[in-house]
Amino acid sequence: MDKYVINGGQRLNGEVTISGAKNSVAAIIPATVLVKGKCVIENVPDIRDVRILIDTLEKFGASVERSDARLVIDCTQIDRNMVADTEDLRLIRASYYLMGALLGRFSKAIVCMPGGCDFGARPIDQHIKGFEMLGATVDTDISGGILTAYADQLTGARVYLDVVSVGATINIMLAATGANGLTIIENAAKEPHVVDVANFLNTMGADIKGAGTDVIKIKGGRELIGGTYAIIPDQIEAGTYMVAVGAVGGKVRVKNVIPKHLESISAKLREAGVEIVEEDDSIVVSRTGPLNKITVKTQPHPGFPTDMQPQIATMLCLAKGVSVVTESVYDHRFKYTRELQKLGAELSVSNKTCYINGVSALHGGIVHSCDLRAGAAMVIAGLMVPGSTQVIDDGCYISRGYENLIEKFGSLGAEIARISTDGECSG
Ligand code: EPU
Repeated sequence: MDKYVINGGQRLNGEVTISGAKNSVAAIIPATVLVKGKCVIENVPDIRDVRILIDTLEKFGASVERSDARLVIDCTQIDRNMVADTEDLRLIRASYYLMGALLGRFSKAIVCMPGGCDFGARPIDQHIKGFEMLGATVDTDISGGILTAYADQLTGARVYLDVVSVGATINIMLAATGANGLTIIENAAKEPHVVDVANFLNTMGADIKGAGTDVIKIKGGRELIGGTYAIIPDQIEAGTYMVAVGAVGGKVRVKNVIPKHLESISAKLREAGVEIVEEDDSIVVSRTGPLNKITVKTQPHPGFPTDMQPQIATMLCLAKGVSVVTESVYDHRFKYTRELQKLGAELSVSNKTCYINGVSALHGGIVHSCDLRAGAAMVIAGLMVPGSTQVIDDGCYISRGYENLIEKFGSLGAEIARISTDGECSG
């Protein structure tokens, strides 16, 4: 279990460099299974999900070399009969990308059910529907927690997604890359990491058009032979630092970002009274005046990301008036509000909407991380409190998604210490 001890109250000042995107790399590492040759991947963050995925590929015969943020993976010799099921793999969501990738490469995949943060039901029916439309049979062993998919030969098809799903869009794209003929995904997700995975596959030799729009066309069956690709900067990590500055004040240049990916976050911060200046590949965030109440509604890209909802709601605990935050992607993503109440925040949740009555100050206390982004929100809350706050992280959540969080916040003037006890992370 990780414990974060935060001595808050300081403004943040200086520069912070954003790492490669967690949700891109979490799909791109499994995607290397489709490639017969060396994939050189740059800007890879050192986070727990990456380590788990690398360990899995190595266990089944991939050759992996890692130096700093550069990863070289060669899955030419990977075991076609691999059963992708380890204790660690069961903790993470991105394990499901091994389904699409193995199915695309070998027309056969046996993978454990995905884990990940608990926001209520997180079905994968759209992934399965997509695989079936490509000609696969999918068996779900609920009690054993195993998914098996197989086909004589995958064939391209037209797949309409009933829900806009990042995971299903990417997973079907992976399987379709190995299918014969044309696949068209309609009502596809448009998140930056969907585009990143398509760009990676195209760099390796695939033919994918339309990623970033709601219709993606994949001409499958081409040989993927390898290449070099750099992961995009993490939109949510960048947004987390931007919101932290909004919450405590100060002036920070957030470097290595794509400002376009951050537009919805920048827009909401501006409405709340935070100054945002966009540069080519950085954003300068500052706040000297008071915070204003705002309304926020999470939506698929280009709307406001659900993965920034806990952080911005936390900032709004100090905004004058009543802010309204509506979650429209997940059913239960407000569990962390009980933790904020322990610090003196005034929030109430009704269905999928949270009403936040801004207070003049929060006080210290002990709070839990309910999940990865809620954990980041608790760190921001700790920074907002003059004096000591402890964040108890029940599942090493924060280290799953934020590279060098302590060091990065520390370089901006924050005082955060992590106390780790090995072997007690529950996921
Ligand atoms: N959904 C279905 N059926 C499906 C798939 C999704 O009903 O087959 C629903 C979900 O229940 C949810 C909505 O569709 O209500 C969107 O889910 P999506 O599939 O887009 O989410 P995901 O692929 O499971 C990824 C990220 C999440 C992020 C969401 C939304 C990864 C590994 N995870 O999850 O990231 O919240 O997209 O952008 O890429 C995080 O980074 O903290 C995180 C949770």
